This record gives sequence, structure tokens and C-alpha cells, in this order.
Amino acid sequence: MAARVVLVLALINCVSTRQLPSDYIVNKSLQSAYRLVYQSETWPVARDRCEDQGGHLAVPDTQEEFEFLQKLVRGMHYPSIVNRDVALVVWLGINNLDDYRIWKNIFGQNIKDSSFSTWSGDNGQGFSDDPEEPHCAAIDPINPGLRDYWCHRRQPYLCEININEI
Ligand SMILES: *[C@@H]1O[C@H](CO)[C@@H](O)[C@H](O)[C@H]1NC(C)=O
Repeated sequence: MAARVVLVLALINCVSTRQLPSDYIVNKSLQSAYRLVYQSETWPVARDRCEDQGGHLAVPDTQEEFEFLQKLVRGMHYPSIVNRDVALVVWLGINNLDDYRIWKNIFGQNIKDSSFSTWSGDNGQGFSDDPEEPHCAAIDPINPGLRDYWCHRRQPYLCEININEI
């Protein structure tokens, strides 16, 4: 009887952790798991890599989630970041590539209506669709808001998996 309970518990544990790839940090109150990726990539490649793992580039929905992500970024071991242009800028799942006036998350939602949308300083102004402008968003360890940055730059990135979906 006791052995059977242990077996069932072992199976439940196995099922609930099987689909979460390694290196993800779980935050139950935010109902998500996050991974800091030290291998720098351009924004489009970072987006694809997160999707390959069944997740997406991280999108802070609230101030609390932004602060939690910033804490993770602050805890990074910067010398270990590979191939980056600037170590302290970490990609998130937000861009204005469709229309420079609207910053959308990777779900296609205007972040002003649906998620955290505070910008750091004068970032996020979006003056034109000119590819010379920064059209992707990131987080750094210090500033209390989003950073805009050039999508073709290689940066470390944050993947997110919603733990309700696994
Ligand atoms: C999860 O995130 C919240 C912020 O929303 C934070 O207060 C809490 O400490 C985090 N939990 C863990 C286990 O890190």
C-alpha cells in the first residue's frame, strides 16, 4: 500500500517536471519558469531558440514580474556571456517591427493594453520604421523600465515557459 503511494507520487513528480527543459527557474507566484541564455543571439534568433524549447522570449506582464526578471539579470555572471555586443542588455519578447508606433509583445498584443509598458528614460519613442532605429526591447540590470535596442545586435536573452501550460 505505502509502496504504491510512493510509486504514484514518483510518477506525478516525473510527469510534472518532464516537460520543463533544464536551467529554468520556476516562480510559482508568477506561474512561469525563466531561463537566462548566455549564448548571445540577434532578437529574431533568440525568439526562435525560446520557441524551440516550447517557450517564448520573456514578457513581463506586471511591475512585479519586471522586477523579478531584473533580479535574475542582476544575478548573471557577466563574464560568461558569449558573443554579446553589450553584456548588460538582455532581450525580451517585445518589438515594434510591424508598426513603429506600436510596441507589441510576441503574442501580438499592444503592451500598453496588456503587459508592463514602462520605458527607461526616453527609450521606446519609436520615431519611424527606419531599420537604423532600435525596434526590439530588452531589460538591463539597473534601469526601472524597458530598453529599446537594435534587433540585429547579438545579446543574451530570457526565455519564459508558462507553467500552467505544462
Ligand atoms: C517570484 O516573484 C515575486 C515577484 O512577483 C517575488 O516576490 C518572489 O520572491 C519570487 N519567488 C521566488 C521563489 O523567487
